[in-house]
Amino acid sequence: MEVRAVASLVQGTYFLPTSALVKTLLLAIMLVYFVRIMRPRRTITCTPPLPPGPAPWPVVGNLPEMLLQKPAFRWIHRMMKDTGTDIACIKLGCVHVIPITCPKIAQEVLKKQDANFMSRPLTFASKTFSHNYMDAILSPNGDQWRKMRRVLTSEIICPTRLQWLQHKRAGEADNLIRYVYNLITSARSSSSIVDVRHVARHYCGNITRRLIFNNRYFGEPRPNGGPGPLEVEHMDAVFTVLGVLYAFCISDYLPWLVGLDLDGHEKIIKKATETVNRLHGTIIDERWRQWKLGERQELEDFLDVLISLRDPQGNPALTMEEVTVLTLDIAIATVDNPSNAVEWALAEMVNNPELLAKAVEEIERVVGRERLVQESDIPRLNYLKACLREAFRLHPVAPFNVPHVALEDTTVAGFHVPKGSHVLLSRIGLGRNPNVWEDPLRFNPDRHIATHDLKAEVALTENDLRFISFSTGRRGCIAASLGTAMSVMLFGRLL
Ligand code: HEM
Repeated sequence: MEVRAVASLVQGTYFLPTSALVKTLLLAIMLVYFVRIMRPRRTITCTPPLPPGPAPWPVVGNLPEMLLQKPAFRWIHRMMKDTGTDIACIKLGCVHVIPITCPKIAQEVLKKQDANFMSRPLTFASKTFSHNYMDAILSPNGDQWRKMRRVLTSEIICPTRLQWLQHKRAGEADNLIRYVYNLITSARSSSSIVDVRHVARHYCGNITRRLIFNNRYFGEPRPNGGPGPLEVEHMDAVFTVLGVLYAFCISDYLPWLVGLDLDGHEKIIKKATETVNRLHGTIIDERWRQWKLGERQELEDFLDVLISLRDPQGNPALTMEEVTVLTLDIAIATVDNPSNAVEWALAEMVNNPELLAKAVEEIERVVGRERLVQESDIPRLNYLKACLREAFRLHPVAPFNVPHVALEDTTVAGFHVPKGSHVLLSRIGLGRNPNVWEDPLRFNPDRHIATHDLKAEVALTENDLRFISFSTGRRGCIAASLGTAMSVMLFGRLL
């Protein structure tokens, strides 16, 4: 009895839940089946696939591959080449990073869908340098970015202001020649060596400081016209900032790692930002005081313009911090592109003397031997501009354009690009794309001169994004004419 009772109890307890379990299991299987049947159909009809790319790991995405195959830009381009794609998707942490190497797709992003790609990523370095996104270059889409971009375009980089400060740029171009001449004649050995990178970068730094602060020196002027220790410190810090702003830092994709400084970028950007802030800040504080006390009333440079801007009610339009970040923006925007393009164009010419001869011949024809190149010559120096275009195409200053962020989910080139994706137009990929450029690795300035109209003016801008110079769209560069003037003057004078 006891045994039977136990048996029936066992049987009963065993039997009844089994039927419920089977029903539940059947229901679950049907649900899974239903969901699986439905999912592919939804994918086909509504959401296209992501662009091709390596399968991501949970949580970290493709960060392990990226870290094992540094530098990241080489790994990305190799992966795209191996996959045979012009648009890819790499998952870094929770961020979809979308590199693009084809002008048509680039145009789809920055022309057709420009409004959706007008934001910038949030990174530790960009946040630190822009004083928590108060600036025009690094800030994400929003009122603050709009305000700062408007100030720059309407008050600083506009044609009247550029004309107003033309004499400062001319003075610096004259100084360039004097400085290079001093370097050559003071060299002790018979073979004088001029470090073109040093000269080119400091020429850009000098122009920047003259335009913003009406002074090429932070410290005492140097007898040979060259930079002193503070100017060297300034340029070194600016180039350091440019090097780490969007440098695939791990914590930019896994924000909970901020503070651990795993790749050392946090320390680097803090130090470089502190240096630039200190050098700019000393002048800005004093100038702010002078305007406040009425000791200064004449506009002499960009800083005066920024400090004395008024809103419709007559109050200062910008805070001191906003003035500071705009001077920081101008400092990082002006130096790397012109100096890099000129350095590379000259390097290519050293290896191709016939190109050098052609450029010098153009200067002799357009400018003559009695005077030096002036800004007014730029429209007629087409071969020089073609050389610079070729330098932008073949030897860009960075592998990628400044990143753009998708504000909403969208489709690009038939692929799904989720909201928040970082879109990277590859400067190398576009400029060296063999489907766009014949013999892409050859430095050939003539490819930029229209064969049907040899007199057509060559410009450094490239609106079709077959390579990146000033880019285009709502976040495109606002200073194509100043950038062109600085680049061509530096190049022309050195030639
Ligand atoms: C040869 C010289 C220059 C080149 C090649 C150049 C190129 C560029 C590029 C590629 C961008 C990013 C565009 C994008 O996100 O798609 C940019 C942005 C920008 N550039 Fe330039 N630039 C030059 C000089 C300057 C100068 C002299 C200034 C002015 C002071 C300037 C101000 C800016 C600003 C404010 C932005 C950010 C616009 C925004 O995010 O809304 N640039 N530049």
